[in-house]
Amino acid sequence: MMAKGIGARPAAPRRWTGTFAGLSLLCLAVQAVQKADLSGDPTVATINHSLSLLQRLQELLHDGNASDTTLRVRTTGSDEIKVFQAHQLMLSLQSEIFESLLHNQTMLTLHEPPDSAALFEKFIRYLYCGEISILLHQAIPLHRLASKYRVHSLQRGVAEYMKNRLASESNQGHVVGWYHYAVRIGDEALQESCLQFLAWNLSAVMSSAEWASVSVDLLLLLLERSDLVLQSELELYTGVEDWVATHQPDDSVVEKMLRSLRYPMISPNHLFHLQKQSPVMVKHYSVVHDLLFQAFQFHSASPIHFAKYFDVNCSMFLPRNYLSTSWGSQWVINNPARDDRSTSFQTQLGPSNHDSAKRVTWNVLFSPRWLPVSLRPVYSDSVSGAIQSIRIEDGRPRLVITPATTSSDFAGVSFQKTILVGVRQQGKVFVKHAYSFHQSTDEVADFLVHADLQKRTSEYLIDNSLHLHIIIKPVYHSLIKVKK
Ligand SMILES: *[C@@H]1O[C@H](CO)[C@@H](O)[C@H](O)[C@H]1NC(C)=O
Ligand SMILES: *[C@@H]1O[C@H](CO)[C@@H](O)[C@H](O)[C@H]1NC(C)=O
Ligand SMILES: *[C@@H]1O[C@H](CO)[C@@H](O)[C@H](O)[C@H]1NC(C)=O
Ligand SMILES: *[C@@H]1O[C@H](CO)[C@@H](O)[C@H](O)[C@H]1NC(C)=O
Ligand SMILES: *[C@@H]1O[C@H](CO)[C@@H](O)[C@H](O)[C@H]1NC(C)=O
Repeated sequence: MMAKGIGARPAAPRRWTGTFAGLSLLCLAVQAVQKADLSGDPTVATINHSLSLLQRLQELLHDGNASDTTLRVRTTGSDEIKVFQAHQLMLSLQSEIFESLLHNQTMLTLHEPPDSAALFEKFIRYLYCGEISILLHQAIPLHRLASKYRVHSLQRGVAEYMKNRLASESNQGHVVGWYHYAVRIGDEALQESCLQFLAWNLSAVMSSAEWASVSVDLLLLLLERSDLVLQSELELYTGVEDWVATHQPDDSVVEKMLRSLRYPMISPNHLFHLQKQSPVMVKHYSVVHDLLFQAFQFHSASPIHFAKYFDVNCSMFLPRNYLSTSWGSQWVINNPARDDRSTSFQTQLGPSNHDSAKRVTWNVLFSPRWLPVSLRPVYSDSVSGAIQSIRIEDGRPRLVITPATTSSDFAGVSFQKTILVGVRQQGKVFVKHAYSFHQSTDEVADFLVHADLQKRTSEYLIDNSLHLHIIIKPVYHSLIKVKK
């Protein structure tokens, strides 16, 4: 400890104190200086046996040599007991809980649920050699052990593993389970990652077995969000209906859920069908009839006219990220770093049935390396090869969306655009980013800022193509403040 302290400041001359202690300290200081001086010497070599040391430490646990601690791990709900001959020093080194438990005793009996008990040997082994392998279904029990015994490095490692494996394939799905676990232990970062993954990947989740394991609280949280990525509001209605049929929750819960759906985003003929045919709707009609009535009214007038009589400043009239073609279009750009590209597509003017026949054509321009005018190099014949501090390579990706025609029909309506960027993770495409703006991605500071489109290895390129999905959301801006 002391040698290290002195070695850290070799330049400071130490005064000779005339005692033995002072002498030995001085010697250590001199050694430290010599070592530092010699570091450029070609004769220096490092003898590195760290791997075999780790091997010996593992044998120590395996053989139980010189053990001073016995751990008896009892599986709750069974008679099974696993016994480990361990070492107080090794256990205490990384776990303050073991340190205090072993303070005055040499034999501990620990009670663990079956999934944690099954992993206990791996867990103890990690304490001896700092290495562990994890599978999806082991993440929760392992994180639980790391949290219980306060092994912070392992806790962080498992949480990181979970964040990186949200998109992994699993038979039953795991993200919903991880979300519920994160809520139980109060890990807000993991909670947020899981929630965002579920919100941006909702169609897949709703059609999987995992959907049935969603809790009331999670479903209500999801229904509040405007950033859900799914085919249509009708798809969400069907998902909620299935969930309710499986769980048969209290009426108050069903009513809350039904009131969180955005009926004006569903076409009137579908609404009429729901009103008459959906068992959940028929049963709870009395608590949503005001919303349905309002939605039918919304469909029968122009939104601007409607807004004169009704408050449209609420989430009910705010579209989510709908993938169906009336709301936008997918755009796959091959070799996106090469040059500027453009495309065009049509959307509905708005969700109101009043406008159902009206279409808007949108032109989209994508530039891989765009520079604002003020930063563009000035080319002049007289000063050829002038030093350009800013090169065209310094430009940033930019995407601009403009209507092909301006029409008086747009009066009062502004269109919010959302770009979803898909990436491939573990062989599947899923939404990595969602950017929202009004006309140009200049309005958002971070559009594809870390995408590295020039590099073939960029994680944003799927078979050398950039996968975008553009969604156009009409916002009645005279009355609605858009949430950023
Ligand atoms: C010693 O060897 C191990 C494994 O070969 C390696 O991971 C570690 O970085 C090495 N340490 C040094 C100081 O070179
Ligand atoms: C543990 O003890 C056994 C025999 O008692 C011995 O063979 C083995 O080498 C020892 N292991 C270590 C790591 O000292
Ligand atoms: C160890 O100390 C704790 C309190 O510090 C006490 O509760 C416990 O009974 C002690 N155990 C033994 C075996 O002495
Ligand atoms: C979303 O996650 C599921 C598994 O939970 C997966 O099947 C799907 O491919 C993912 N991505 C998308 C875009 O749906
Ligand atoms: C719309 O509602 C939000 C909160 O729900 C409020 O902050 C905002 O002022 C409202 N805007 C108008 C124009 O009423």
